[in-house]
Amino acid sequence: MKPVSIAIDGPSGAGKSTLARRLAKNLGYVYVDTGAMYRTIAYYTIQKNALTAEAVIALLPTLTVSLGYGTDGVQHVYANGEDVSDFIRTPEVSMGASRVSAIPEVRAFLLDTQRNLAKQTNVVMDGRDIGTVVLPDAQVKIYLTASAEKRAMRRFLELQEKQPDSAPTFEEVLADVIQRDKQDMSREIAPLKQAEDAVLAETSDLTLEESEALLLRICQEKLAQ
Ligand code: DC
Repeated sequence: MKPVSIAIDGPSGAGKSTLARRLAKNLGYVYVDTGAMYRTIAYYTIQKNALTAEAVIALLPTLTVSLGYGTDGVQHVYANGEDVSDFIRTPEVSMGASRVSAIPEVRAFLLDTQRNLAKQTNVVMDGRDIGTVVLPDAQVKIYLTASAEKRAMRRFLELQEKQPDSAPTFEEVLADVIQRDKQDMSREIAPLKQAEDAVLAETSDLTLEESEALLLRICQEKLAQ
């Protein structure tokens, strides 16, 4: 039987990773965080001082991005076999990921890996173009979003908890969220947009638990059809 694919797309900070991970656990599927793959390319190329598109493209043949899962089921991402999971969540790498993800060669480089994962097993895959480009035949497509202010506030609180002494201000986080939205939605290739057959999940006024229940309900309804 063909494996089931659940595609979750949406802007940064909508809670995609947390919710997709929980959904995958609930359903017994493998969680695939495609943002982590773009982040890995950003991290690797920043390390190598490749800051132009040409320089990034030139480095691609020297890089293999792969995913693995710890005994706890948590996804780890590897650059040439080195676990880089702990280094890819900095603001610098976030901005770098948004930049490298607009390069067509970078997207083509990751496309096969992402499709092959979905061919092998049931997946919950999250990103920006999963329902529109990577897995257009996914059985369930969800577009997960929340207002920029709500997303920035969640991120701001998270950063304050993680680094109380050096956390950016709310205004800085909001500006960052708005800039990344603009970059992700206005790029020429595979821009962030809701697939025509995706279900919209607006979580501005929902708690994490309520959002989790909503996603599970959407999947159960779609898969029962
Ligand atoms: O979801 P994230 O914040 O980890 O993603 C990092 C960047 O990668 C984000 O700016 C957009 C980009 N991205 C993408 O273009 N396509 C995807 N499928 C996933 C992420």
